[in-house]
Amino acid sequence: MFDRSIKIAPSILAADFASFGAECRAVEAEGADWVHVDVMDGHFVPNLTFGPAMCAALRPHIRGVMDVHLMISPVDPYLEAYAKAGADNITVHVEAGPHIHRTLQAIAALGKRPGVAINPGTPVEAVAELLDLVGLVCVMTVNPGFGGQGFIETQLAKIARLRQMIGDRPVHLEVDGGISATTAPLVTRAGADVLVAGAAVFKGGTPEAPAAYGANIRAIRAAAETGLR
Ligand code: DX5
Ligand code: ZN
Repeated sequence: MFDRSIKIAPSILAADFASFGAECRAVEAEGADWVHVDVMDGHFVPNLTFGPAMCAALRPHIRGVMDVHLMISPVDPYLEAYAKAGADNITVHVEAGPHIHRTLQAIAALGKRPGVAINPGTPVEAVAELLDLVGLVCVMTVNPGFGGQGFIETQLAKIARLRQMIGDRPVHLEVDGGISATTAPLVTRAGADVLVAGAAVFKGGTPEAPAAYGANIRAIRAAAETGLR
């Protein structure tokens, strides 16, 4: 049976950039299901973050799933490097290149779970031909590039439509951007099962005093579960 239980995936984009290893250990100890790593290239999105060497350095600090979100273009030349860095999931944007089908095949050939992400301006039909190739579809609920932005409500209809399109395929439906205890029930009601959250997880805590991370994760999870009723 495919595990469609709610998963909370803290985005380390909201962590202390001087303490990534400790931040990953802290959020996992406080209940994170996956750790989400936002890779940005200053070209596909207007911000720059982590190269493969950073992911490789983080890998020993993450016991569970390292969920790597590549917001880069071109993406194909870097897939092998992120696979070797220890990513479990490699998610690429349908908007990032002309050959998304080939890119997803390449990720699968590297032995990783292929994911496809769509920006707020992209219709769900863009992934219709890809659902048998992926293990994850990510609906961006903000325009990618920065943490701490406001949730874009119009994406809820897309989540619901994708949930229907996915059917009983073993494919996670992830949402990314502006997720909090307020927005979590909206996305789970629409059909999301993996909730990425940056600002809402890391607020109020530090790696030395991580109790707030646990409280934040529990609050998001509890709110998410009310959306399933
Ligand atoms: C946006 C990133 C997100 C972001 C989420 O470009 O892909 O993962 O960090 O952060 P919050 O939850 O703060 O919107
Ligand atoms: Zn992300």
